[in-house]
Amino acid sequence: MNRHHPHQEHQHGILIQDARRYEWAARIGMWGRRRQVYDGLVALAGIGPGDRVLDVGCGTGYLTRRAARAVGPIGVAVGIDPSASVIGYAATRSPANCTFQVAGAQALPHPDGTFDAVVSSLAIHHLPPDEQVTALREMRRVLRPGGRLLIADFRAEPRHHRLAGLFVGLARRARRHHPMPDLAGLIREAGFTPTGAGDRWPALHYVQARRPDDDVSVATEHSRP
Ligand SMILES: C[S@@+](CC[C@H](N)C(=O)[O-])C[C@H]1O[C@@H](n2cnc3c(N)ncnc32)[C@H](O)[C@@H]1O
Repeated sequence: MNRHHPHQEHQHGILIQDARRYEWAARIGMWGRRRQVYDGLVALAGIGPGDRVLDVGCGTGYLTRRAARAVGPIGVAVGIDPSASVIGYAATRSPANCTFQVAGAQALPHPDGTFDAVVSSLAIHHLPPDEQVTALREMRRVLRPGGRLLIADFRAEPRHHRLAGLFVGLARRARRHHPMPDLAGLIREAGFTPTGAGDRWPALHYVQARRPDDDVSVATEHSRP
């Protein structure tokens, strides 16, 4: 493999390998409004002081760091991604209340009920389609009952596929990505209670959900007593 190639097919999904190039593309692709867009996602997830937050498929950790800022010194933000390259990049830029781990969404390395909120941006379409519900069930398992989920991904219309390609700076490669997921269907299938959905500039669709309050255990391969 060319080590400068920014994407790599992997057993976990399509991984970002070139952190600097991804950062560059994300900055350019959001036309200087990246902070505004990601702070909007933090607000949609209802993240506030003292929360314990997990960012799934965190990449270079931009959303994780914005969440860390919102939770403040008594909260915690954790980012996971199976790409050691982006985690290495993120770890060198993390504030004290922010940590990063190499892990895939399909097998989260956290005990049941660890987090108040789970967020994930632009990552679900990187997972193999037949593993997306498994990943969502894992997110439900690591949330406390009543905990909040926010998933944002590219809108599925073809014209937004082209924008998505520009966004990552790799239009030709982006067409090889998996189809855009049906987020509402996935969260229902994974046992969440949907609480909202909408679109956001530049080409995002998001869903909000909760782990049901009376949901005391989630049977996944990774459940812990
Ligand atoms: C387009 S990037 C989004 C990164 C970041 N969330 C953001 O908004 O900038 C998609 C990320 O999903 C990661 N990814 C791929 N397969 C994954 C999996 N199985 N579990 C978690 N993340 C995965 C990739 O390595 C990549 O960093």
